[in-house]
Amino acid sequence: MDRVDVDLQPFAEVDSTEFRHKWHELFEVLRKYVPRLEPPTPFSYEQFEEMFVVDPDFLWDISQVARDKEKLIGFTYLYRSDVEAELFQAQTAVHRDYRGRGIAKALKARSAKRAIEAGYRTVRADNDTRNAPMLAINARLGYKGSPE
Ligand SMILES: CC(C)(COP(=O)(O)OP(=O)(O)OC[C@H]1O[C@@H](n2cnc3c(N)ncnc32)[C@H](O)[C@@H]1OP(=O)(O)O)[C@@H](O)C(=O)NCCC(=O)NCCS
Repeated sequence: MDRVDVDLQPFAEVDSTEFRHKWHELFEVLRKYVPRLEPPTPFSYEQFEEMFVVDPDFLWDISQVARDKEKLIGFTYLYRSDVEAELFQAQTAVHRDYRGRGIAKALKARSAKRAIEAGYRTVRADNDTRNAPMLAINARLGYKGSPE
């Protein structure tokens, strides 16, 4: 692929009805690549909206999207947790055509910067041990393994 200029922005800055539909479409594509035992059950737009858009713990200012012009190509989601100054990082995913260019690392690094600016001190994430790229990214960004 030729050089691309990728924009990283918080969800809060790009939100619109059109964006939410694009987000749902990409979400449905990318979740199929997350290692899991069974293929995921598709979510309708309404189910998706209830899970993400309406979730009061979803952090619109800290979660990040990556775009190539108007095309949505990746995201990382963060949620408030019950632990003080700690966030939970849920899915990070990048469109297949754009992988291996540091976009996931940049999304996570940008979200960590925003989280620190907002006063958070710890980010927790769950990783499937088969997900070598994500484990490599987390090791590079300084995430520490936990026995849980
Ligand atoms: C995981 C994912 C987000 C990575 O996106 P990406 O933009 O390609 O990631 P980056 O380019 O920032 O970094 C990839 C890193 O993984 C490494 N990597 C890739 N394949 C690897 C493998 N098989 N073994 C070890 N490391 C690997 C790369 O070398 C790179 O690390 P480096 O920069 O230190 O060399 C992407 O593969 C994806 O969307 N997967 C499906 C969704 C998913 O599983 N998300 C995580 C669970 S929520």
